[in-house]
Amino acid sequence: MSEQPLTIATASDHAGFDLRIALEAHLSAKGIRVVSMGTDVKERCDYPDYAEKVARAVVAGDAALGLLVCGTGVGMSMAANKVHGVRAAVVSDSFSARATRSHNDCNVLCLGERVVGVGLAQEIVDAFLSASFEGGRHQGRVQKMMDLEG
Ligand code: RB5
Repeated sequence: MSEQPLTIATASDHAGFDLRIALEAHLSAKGIRVVSMGTDVKERCDYPDYAEKVARAVVAGDAALGLLVCGTGVGMSMAANKVHGVRAAVVSDSFSARATRSHNDCNVLCLGERVVGVGLAQEIVDAFLSASFEGGRHQGRVQKMMDLEG
């Protein structure tokens, strides 16, 4: 039986459009299945609409992970975290990218096109994907965090 490729749902608003397209190509080149959820044009749009699409795809299990890009990554992370089951984190360095996956079991990575360049963003994505949740002492902390959802 052949192994299923990792599926990542991606989306951006207009301000994250170019970086998202570049990262989708980067992910595809690594053999990752990318489910692109827009925006399809660079016209101004509202980041919560796109954060919701990716957040719901991840929670539904249609994608293992999500990648969201806006101008700063901040709005996307705030919006995605409103969906129960999502642990979104905006990062701009590789160390945090690795740590948020291995310690926080982050399932939606958020980036800011106005914050990081394409090269650094690719490194951040690679660092995120190279890590996995460590469980152990982090398991209970993640559970406490999720219990805050009520
Ligand atoms: C759009 O101008 C910008 O506000 C948005 O992309 C994002 O940075 C919000 O957090």
